[in-house]
Amino acid sequence: MHIIHHTTELRTQVRQWHAAGLSVCLVPTMGNLHEGHLALVDRARQLADRVIATIFVNPLQFIQGEDYDTYPRTLEEDSLKLSERGTDILFAPEVAEVYPSGLENHTEVSVPALDGFLCGASRPGHFTGVATVVSKLLNLVQPDTAVFGEKDYQQLLVIKRMVSDLCIPVDIQSLPTVREEDGLAMSSRNNYLNEEQRRIAPELYKQLQKIADQLRAGETDYPTLEHAGMDELKQFGFEPEYLSVRRRHDLQLPSTGTPPEELIILAAARLGKTRLIDNLQVLSS
Ligand code: PAJ
Repeated sequence: MHIIHHTTELRTQVRQWHAAGLSVCLVPTMGNLHEGHLALVDRARQLADRVIATIFVNPLQFIQGEDYDTYPRTLEEDSLKLSERGTDILFAPEVAEVYPSGLENHTEVSVPALDGFLCGASRPGHFTGVATVVSKLLNLVQPDTAVFGEKDYQQLLVIKRMVSDLCIPVDIQSLPTVREEDGLAMSSRNNYLNEEQRRIAPELYKQLQKIADQLRAGETDYPTLEHAGMDELKQFGFEPEYLSVRRRHDLQLPSTGTPPEELIILAAARLGKTRLIDNLQVLSS
């Protein structure tokens, strides 16, 4: 695996691959890689001749007071894992390489249809930061395909909408959430949990499963389900930010006649200082 830190070198390499008729798949990450990220790399290998993974902790998507400074940076371990899984290039740029004119007044890409609610409400500007950096990576690499996780479901829809609205010639593929044995969605932020919090954390997914069962059984009083779920989370020691039943194709509020297989349940909750998110598409059992 070739590790590249500079955009000029990356462009040169990709240009050669394209000229040779090779397809390229991009896997953007912020590093501190776990099996969830590596599953994306496995999928990328199936989808294209060459795989480029990126590791970049993007300052533009962290809002004030968030964990930008303390976000785990583990480049050495990460590059070993990526290499073992058959990644061809790891692109790991410095902030100044990605934002050579600085962050102030940088051109931004925003996706207003999707960024004002759920995670967008509690993290204003976050999805603009994500859309901006992902559009830069897509422009730099010009991949045939890019793979994202359904763990960050709202982010996935933001990226799909951006690609569609801006006519970016890339196919966006997604992969289901990879979980720990007890159901907790894998996340780099799980490392922040202490032993007691780690024991409680899977209750978030259990709550989503419980609501999915009720929706499948024909329950349509979404607000009651949401409030009951939030109350249970509080009893376990979570501070829920939201727990919401939405339409899975656009994340808008469903009407009572919406078939359960068109629904998704999304939640964000703090456990101590750690912010956990998860979601579950209801689908049929
Ligand atoms: P990061 O949190 O590192 O995640 C990188 C990719 O891995 C995203 O597509 C995310 O949805 C996926 N992922 C994370 N945990 C997963 C899990 N348990 N199962 C499956 N996929 C999982 O998301 C970001 O970085 C950034 O916002 C980024 C898109 C790189 C832009 O900076």
